[in-house]
Amino acid sequence: MSFLIAPSILAADLARLGQECDDVLAAGADMIHFDVMDNHYVPNLTFGPMICEALRKHGVTAPIDVHLMVEPVDDLIVSFADAGADFISFHPEASRHVDRSLKLIESKGCKKALVLNPASPVSLIEPVLDQLDMLLFMSVNPGFGGQKFLPYVLDKIRKAKALIVERGLECRIEVDGGVGVNNIRQVAEAGADTFVAGSAIFGSDDYADVVKAMRVELEGL
Ligand code: DX5
Ligand code: ZN
Repeated sequence: MSFLIAPSILAADLARLGQECDDVLAAGADMIHFDVMDNHYVPNLTFGPMICEALRKHGVTAPIDVHLMVEPVDDLIVSFADAGADFISFHPEASRHVDRSLKLIESKGCKKALVLNPASPVSLIEPVLDQLDMLLFMSVNPGFGGQKFLPYVLDKIRKAKALIVERGLECRIEVDGGVGVNNIRQVAEAGADTFVAGSAIFGSDDYADVVKAMRVELEGL
């Protein structure tokens, strides 16, 4: 599985969002991580589908990885698919009918992902693991950027990776929260292949330097 680096626009200069996406992609990032917060499922409020559509109109052609931290999820799945999302992920605790919500994402032609909060066990998604294109592990509590990586999540990643290999699945493993040059290798060694980084990239003066340093850390894996 190839490695993907997905900068989270939560940490971007939001007054210049289109340019920030252009810059980070030109710096070598693979996709845009788009954090949707509703001040209900999580205690913060961010962007809706209009902003996703605006990025497409601006000219962003890279995959957009929509991370829904909202409850309920189904209406927004449809709106974000129509707005140009590629991956759509949601937290299983936020949908009454997880299988139905996954099928809705599929029916809209998007890639399906579920998100596990730090305290949520891998067993929660085991029955639907075979359906997923990606499994996202929160390594901080969702709601804010710039938090410290919770190392106990690495054990859950190892467990999920073993299941994915055992079942011969194509499912990606994404990690979100507190990921940077200092720990990306450790996270990859646990089994992750897709890395969200907000403050580590947008907090730097040179995005290309950080993306390159991350890829150097991943060399040989
Ligand atoms: C948190 C978000 C993350 C966040 C990551 O709820 O899902 O994507 O922006 O930010 P950093 O990389 O700064 O921890
Ligand atoms: Zn996220």
